[in-house]
Amino acid sequence: MSFETIDTSVQALWRFDYDSNIKQLRDLYEVAKKEQWNAALDVPWDIPTDAAVVGDMSAPNVEPYDFVKALTKDKQIEFAKRRSAHLLSNFLHGEQGAMMICGQLVEVVPDMDGKLYAATQVIDEARHVEVFARYIKRLDRVYPLMTGLKNLLNAVLQADMWQMKCIGMQVIAESIAMGSFKTMRAITHDEVFKKILELTSQDEARHVSYGLIYMKDAIPKMNEPDRDRLEDFAFAAMTMLATTPQMEGGKRVDPFEQIYLELGIDPARANSEIISRMADPEFVKAQPNPFRDYAYPQLERVGLITDRTRAKYREVGLAA
Ligand SMILES: [Fe+2]
Ligand SMILES: [Fe+2]
Repeated sequence: MSFETIDTSVQALWRFDYDSNIKQLRDLYEVAKKEQWNAALDVPWDIPTDAAVVGDMSAPNVEPYDFVKALTKDKQIEFAKRRSAHLLSNFLHGEQGAMMICGQLVEVVPDMDGKLYAATQVIDEARHVEVFARYIKRLDRVYPLMTGLKNLLNAVLQADMWQMKCIGMQVIAESIAMGSFKTMRAITHDEVFKKILELTSQDEARHVSYGLIYMKDAIPKMNEPDRDRLEDFAFAAMTMLATTPQMEGGKRVDPFEQIYLELGIDPARANSEIISRMADPEFVKAQPNPFRDYAYPQLERVGLITDRTRAKYREVGLAA
């Protein structure tokens, strides 16, 4: 049994008038009810997964590295499979985080339309946990939650303003998931995985819409100090996820080291090749970057990129 606990506290808000007051959210709730699917029945689980066509989810648009080319064909497939399982494990943990955070949103958001919609998202995220856990078993094993994602999910679970939970999960994390799922759909040729990504992306698009609709309504109603805190929280959440190194037992570690060693790859060689490619600004610019390409534009749309914060995003390379 493997688990960990953190303390959270939320202020549950009862709402005693039940009429709709944010029509767009009520409409989205109707769509969510219609678009429910069954993770056990709507994915073609009877089709076996051919490891050779899964693809490497961690390396979109990348000419294979020399350390990968030096492997036998079988080991290259194994490497792609394991790195994909590593990435998908983090989506799996993220889905669990999303399920718990949405449970909190049901309690804390102030509008009935917001509560009803969030309730539908709890079951959406449960389905996502179910499909990713089941699919990862076809590839490899479940890898640990990365430090940056863990810090972000815990910060959102512990945030004391409902708007922070909504921005952290619905606008930032959901946009990044949408962008990453799109990239993965372009990489993989596995029918089962393609179907999983198609179904989950449909849900995630709705989850982002909820964040955008709700935040566009809520942010203009906030007082200035709270709004500043929300802007700062958004920036902290983005950098936490994008730039936090992997830590274990208080030490910085390479998240892929175990995979390298198991496949007979020299971690130092792999890292020096990766670092030298990342030092090329043209290479970095050409890479899909869900922070820059998906999350940042959404933060701009809801009005959280301001004269006070814009330069900070540029400094860390997260501005679109
Ligand atoms: Fe999800
Ligand atoms: Fe979601």
